[in-house]
Amino acid sequence: MKIAIIGATGLVGRKMVEKLGSSFISRDAEVFLAASEKSYGKEFFLQGKTLKVSSIENVLEQKPHIALFSAGNWVSEKYAREFVRQGAFVIDNSSYWRMHDDVPLVVPEINSENITSKTRLIANPNCSTIQMVLVLSGLHKAWCIRRIVVATYQSVTGTGVRALNQLMNERTGMIVSEPAYPHTIDLNLFPHGGNFLPNGYTTEEMKLVNETRKILHDNQLQVTATVVRVPVKGGHSEAVNVEFVEDYDIDDALEILRNTPGVVVQDSPSEDIYPMPLTAEGKDEVFVGRIRHDESCRKALNLWIVADNLLKGAATNAVQIAEYIVNRKYIQ
Ligand SMILES: NC(=O)c1ccc[n+]([C@@H]2O[C@H](COP(=O)([O-])OP(=O)(O)OC[C@H]3O[C@@H](n4cnc5c(N)ncnc54)[C@H](OP(=O)(O)O)[C@@H]3O)[C@@H](O)[C@H]2O)c1
Repeated sequence: MKIAIIGATGLVGRKMVEKLGSSFISRDAEVFLAASEKSYGKEFFLQGKTLKVSSIENVLEQKPHIALFSAGNWVSEKYAREFVRQGAFVIDNSSYWRMHDDVPLVVPEINSENITSKTRLIANPNCSTIQMVLVLSGLHKAWCIRRIVVATYQSVTGTGVRALNQLMNERTGMIVSEPAYPHTIDLNLFPHGGNFLPNGYTTEEMKLVNETRKILHDNQLQVTATVVRVPVKGGHSEAVNVEFVEDYDIDDALEILRNTPGVVVQDSPSEDIYPMPLTAEGKDEVFVGRIRHDESCRKALNLWIVADNLLKGAATNAVQIAEYIVNRKYIQ
């Protein structure tokens, strides 16, 4: 089998190389890496072999069976369908294809059945969406969520390598020649993720609304989001308030969360135990804590959700989708 990673030198791409290296699907696979021209020739070490980064065209010529895309919207728009035409299953990490009707938006623990033998292009949801829906899907099944109010505290790694460099350079007093953000991020935060839209929300906020509805197959679900960028590196955090249609039970909610694959409950406030980006960094799971009844609304619950945005929010989810495709024997 041949597997390609497009955007292998990026923050997500590097994690994809790592996750692929520890996955059974790479054991007998040939792996091809692509990035922009400035990275041609860069070397990666995977399963005892040295791999060199080359151009997207070179990798396309290899006719990979699976291609993991993580090089931004423009690259996905231009090349994803071309890879499909050459026979690849494309798993795309950009936001370009996510809301296309014929492209499933997949968190494997929730809706892997949306991938069929005929599916060729699969979208990985936004990092903030993945961690939220993974925690909420079981609760939604149990009591039907009417409304979600979420405020995010998003790590700079969510914006890519330039944003991480901005934070680190600001922290060490170095000049930031190409800032990723319109404001200083160190010792600061701002309620701004992506671009502003005519409705006053940002693109990152509307991803949480639209992607959640698509993954949970519920267009009636009311979702409102405020995205905040914070000077943090290890992962995204979210304060989430959910209101159910039906009466819920907090002990049953805890039980559902403890039994949700990929979710870890960290909820012992008396011992100062709750999820944090520092402790979530480097882990594949999504962590949930501060689980408490909303005393202002009988049918509502408050949660605090944290995950490494580069892992379950991106690379881990994408590799899990690839593993699903291989396990289902969709690759001839
Ligand atoms: N960061 C996250 O937490 C996260 C989570 C979910 C989804 N995503 C999405 O994943 C994608 C990558 O994000 P990132 O954070 O890894 O960004 P990044 O660190 O800036 O990396 C971007 C990658 O794309 C490559 N690239 C850029 N332009 C290219 C071109 N014209 N041709 C070929 N390769 C090109 C870069 O190659 P060079 O190194 O050669 O420039 C690099 O490998 C984005 O679409 C992002 O929205 C990110």
